[in-house]
Amino acid sequence: MRKLLSLLLCACLLLTVTACSGGGTTESPASGSSHPDTTQQPENEPDESASPSEAEPEQPTDEDEAASDSNILVAYFSLTGEQYEVGVIEKGNTEIVAEMIADATGADTFKIESTEEYPTTYDGLLDISRKEEDDPPEIAGTVDNMDGYDTIFLGYPIWWGDTPTIIKVFLQSYDFSGKTIIPFCTHGGSGLAGTDRTIGELCPDATIGEGLAIRGSTAQNDRDSTQESVAEWLKDNGYI
Ligand SMILES: Cc1cc2nc3c(=O)[nH]c(=O)nc-3n(C[C@H](O)[C@H](O)[C@H](O)COP(=O)(O)O)c2cc1C
Repeated sequence: MRKLLSLLLCACLLLTVTACSGGGTTESPASGSSHPDTTQQPENEPDESASPSEAEPEQPTDEDEAASDSNILVAYFSLTGEQYEVGVIEKGNTEIVAEMIADATGADTFKIESTEEYPTTYDGLLDISRKEEDDPPEIAGTVDNMDGYDTIFLGYPIWWGDTPTIIKVFLQSYDFSGKTIIPFCTHGGSGLAGTDRTIGELCPDATIGEGLAIRGSTAQNDRDSTQESVAEWLKDNGYI
């Protein structure tokens, strides 16, 4: 009888151990599945599902700070395609100068672009530029935080002895009071053509800095001499 009782006890114990060891485990993944279970949070990793009040307060990253670091903006309009004296180009003459200025000053950049595409032939541009005077283009996008900039280098090609109409639209789109606007242009022989005065008339409460004019073919084909002219002008005027 005692033997029978011991046997029964052993059998009970065996059953209990088997039941416990099976209850706490998850099923092992089906063989052949190599994906990790992304629904489980690894230990020590922040739980992204936590509500904002439970989560750690967000610290500004280096990237955020860099984005608002510069108080200088280089805003420019420049076209590729067929251009005067340089044939078909892949980077606009004015854009080449704009990038040099931005590199030297650490400025942010904004490319002024129309919501409508421009023609890629010189004749097409001559045609549309005239029409724009009565039917101004719309600018795609806006400058983030214009208030944060106190100096704006403004670049454009000379069109018909003047700034392209889109530059006038840009100047009318923001309040430049108290800011310094420094014009730079590329051209086919006209130089600045008095466009610094035009900008001053459009923004009477801004200070207009000394401008820079570079021939388009020089910007496109002689980068070294362009770079020298840009650096000299920036230094002479205390911009760097
Ligand atoms: C519609 C149009 C009008 C232009 N008018 C003049 C002008 O009056 N005087 C001048 O020197 N160059 C003129 N040009 C030449 C451009 O100013 C020159 O090619 C410039 O470098 C183009 O710059 P981008 O490649 O940045 O657009 C004109 C070009 C175009 C397309």
